[in-house]
Amino acid sequence: MSRPRHFLTLEALGAEGIERVLARAVELSRLRGSADHPKPLAGKSVALVMEKASTRTRVSFEVGIVELGGHPLALAGRDLQIGRGEPIEDTARVLSRYVHAIVHRTFAHATLERLAAFAAVPVVNALSDSHHPCQLLADLAIVRREHGSLGGGLRVAWIGDGNNVAASWIEAAGLLGLELRLACPEGHEPSRELVARARGWGRGKIEVVRDPAEAARGAHVVTTDVWASMGQEGEADARRRVFAGYTVDDALMEQASADAIFLHCLPAHRGEEVAASVIDGPRSRVWDEAEERLHTQKALLEWVTG
Ligand code: CP
Ligand code: NVA
Repeated sequence: MSRPRHFLTLEALGAEGIERVLARAVELSRLRGSADHPKPLAGKSVALVMEKASTRTRVSFEVGIVELGGHPLALAGRDLQIGRGEPIEDTARVLSRYVHAIVHRTFAHATLERLAAFAAVPVVNALSDSHHPCQLLADLAIVRREHGSLGGGLRVAWIGDGNNVAASWIEAAGLLGLELRLACPEGHEPSRELVARARGWGRGKIEVVRDPAEAARGAHVVTTDVWASMGQEGEADARRRVFAGYTVDDALMEQASADAIFLHCLPAHRGEEVAASVIDGPRSRVWDEAEERLHTQKALLEWVTG
């Protein structure tokens, strides 16, 4: 039996695969609601296992699976036996006997790697502590639409925590040849190994700087994320102090290119990582970005299920 197509990081798709998924997402968006919409998941079930909270990922996958003709099973991690310590390897083997793909949101990325190693069906990363590749498909779809393509010296500024979403931006930059500047406070930089690896792909230009203005200067896309991710709630106060000065506000947006857009994966904390005037302002594309989760993940599900 051939190995299933897992999607744990953006690297699994590669540059060509990303372009193909994004092009297909445009097509699926156009066909939405029409009788010609494809139903490649007819007769198939997909498990959505959520070990952390989720609004966008859960709902967009659930709706997307239904629109592709399939049956979604939304399962909270605490309601499954993994919540009581059943090994993920056993869960992988059992779920593989019932469903045709597993979409999983978890803490340690290694959990997903073990799930994928033992699953006979495709595993999709719905967010881990280290990566959020599904988010990047949506973000890239917006950037591609706004700028006409993903090439041509596109500059992206990441402001704040070098977290899971930042890691997926680093992979996107490395694979697609983007110029990515990340401004992070000391101790909150992205993984050095990941940056080195993505630089090693030889296409992107990835720089980590301290000063948000330096990152934002001339950028076509300015993006950020919460200062305390899921699982870091206990550090929220300390992080608020460390990240002071890393708010994406109007003054920072002034540093960017005149046609720059603002992206945020959401949920957002207005007044912390982003000013209300920016996220609710004319340069913000966050609602389109959230919608794109649906179209791009439908295209992704077609790809993983072959
Ligand atoms: N952006 C994102 O993944 O949102 P949820 O946590 O609501 O799924
Ligand atoms: N970095 C955030 C992203 C939420 C979609 C988190 O992991 O909580």
